[in-house]
Amino acid sequence: MDKFYVTTPIYYPSGKFHIGTAYTEVLADAIKRYKTLQGYDAYMLTGTDEHGQKIEDKAKEANLSPKEYVDLQADSAKKLWKEMKINYNQYIRTTDDLHEKAVGVIFEKFLKQGDIYKGEYEGWYCKPCESYFTETQLVDGKCPDCGRPVEKMKEEAYFFNMKKYADRLLKYYDEHPDFVKPAYRKNEMINNFIKPGLEDLCVTRTSFDWGIKVPSDPKHVIYVWLDALTNYITALGYASNNEELFNKFWPADLQIVGKDIARFHLIYWPIFLMALDLTLPKTILVHNWITMKDGKMSKSVGNVIYPEQLMERYGLDVTKYFLLRQVPVNSDGVFTPEEFVERYNYNLCNDLSNLLNRTVSMINKYFDGNLPVYNGNPNDEIDISIEKEAEDTVKEFENLMENCEIANAIQRIWGLVSRTNKYIDETSPWSLAKEVDGESEEERKLRKEKLKSAMYHLVANLKEIAILIRPFMEETSNNILRQLGISSENITWNDLKDYKNLQDIKVIEKGEPIFMRLDVEEEIEYIKGLMQK
Ligand code: ME8
Ligand code: MG
Repeated sequence: MDKFYVTTPIYYPSGKFHIGTAYTEVLADAIKRYKTLQGYDAYMLTGTDEHGQKIEDKAKEANLSPKEYVDLQADSAKKLWKEMKINYNQYIRTTDDLHEKAVGVIFEKFLKQGDIYKGEYEGWYCKPCESYFTETQLVDGKCPDCGRPVEKMKEEAYFFNMKKYADRLLKYYDEHPDFVKPAYRKNEMINNFIKPGLEDLCVTRTSFDWGIKVPSDPKHVIYVWLDALTNYITALGYASNNEELFNKFWPADLQIVGKDIARFHLIYWPIFLMALDLTLPKTILVHNWITMKDGKMSKSVGNVIYPEQLMERYGLDVTKYFLLRQVPVNSDGVFTPEEFVERYNYNLCNDLSNLLNRTVSMINKYFDGNLPVYNGNPNDEIDISIEKEAEDTVKEFENLMENCEIANAIQRIWGLVSRTNKYIDETSPWSLAKEVDGESEEERKLRKEKLKSAMYHLVANLKEIAILIRPFMEETSNNILRQLGISSENITWNDLKDYKNLQDIKVIEKGEPIFMRLDVEEEIEYIKGLMQK
């Protein structure tokens, strides 16, 4: 069994996660489920990034010790992921003993090798991002990552010799076209950070206390990004006395990060791995953001939506569907109440739910709920073309998923949904079900065969659709399969190969529509109301 190791960033546990933050997690979960269905031994890591000045400040605000604060926050993060049925295998906290010890070992190794040296740091510091910038990196005198004000700071500090690895990194990018997806993110790194001259990275702080101490010089706290990035290997036991998981799962197959933290994952992380003499992950996927019409989602603007709010009213599957469908490869995905309601009504209700409903109704009406067998493809071209469409959909979906284009992959499924709805019109079963005046016995037989074939192809396609949406809409997948009389218990990706094999189906029973039409105006108002809370 092949392994598949997928990671999400470890989250700052500094407040409630909105739908944008939840996006990374939902995406990783969908990919993990997809790989699991395909038969991989998939392992997903997530967690919380609990050290640093920002957390120390937040704890103070809340009148708690940093540890008390992160304990509460980690609990509420885990609670949310549970409600969202995020199927991670491991939750790492950077305050875990195992992690703290391993980070100390890693730091000392770098120091001993000469990759880390002691110097003095002066620069522009962005507190929210925990990042130093040089004068030239600032944008309009503000943080280039988040646009907030920066302050001048100076301290004795340790540095990581990034320059030493710059050429090796460029060469690695060049020789491994799958390392960064989408590829334009790699070019951004080269043009904005590497070509202009990679600066050595300051990897310790003395200005605050809440972090992992340098073992050989404990007045220095290890920079939160060096601490955090190594979680992907320390979680697996790297630099501990049990490296079993590490040996099994490293290198990661896919590391997913949002665009705001691309620089850390595409430059510093691979360089740290090179310095540790470890294999680099196969792919780092940088995803775009969910934004609002008026820009970034933020409490101060008052345009925040929380996943719980959408799930409570529309369900988990709808929430995941919308998030994943909404973020393209080349730009941010905008959340608007209008588009949310529209996608629900069109894609889920009109297209998918109605397709199921019409199919199940017709089989009940024409065949008492017994799926008929048929011989060959009596509707000729129409049947051959719908079968080809079904086969192409799987291939194209898989290719898009391999390329981490999940919004496009989902859109491809809906291409099949539309095509299958059109198949109903093309075959017009209602006329095939009607006796024709003066038809011969032969003609009558053919008409019946055509009707059977139409029903059969509809069920086969719906079964395929139910399997394809399974990685991100499991409940809906189960609901579709149940109405078709197919057991969802042992469904795997393999069932797609044989999607026309419907031998097990006995009786198809008419059920409730899986999605009911929303009142457009009422729901838009409702969602707008959420945004103002
Ligand atoms: O960056 N749309 O954690 P974090 C899509 N602790 N994704 C979004 C988003 C939005 N509107 N807002 C945030 C950190 N994210 C570090 C990671 S890893 C060694 C350390 C994503 O809690 C963001 O891009 O600020 C990131 O992938 C994730 O939420 C966690 O962000
Ligand atoms: Mg962030």
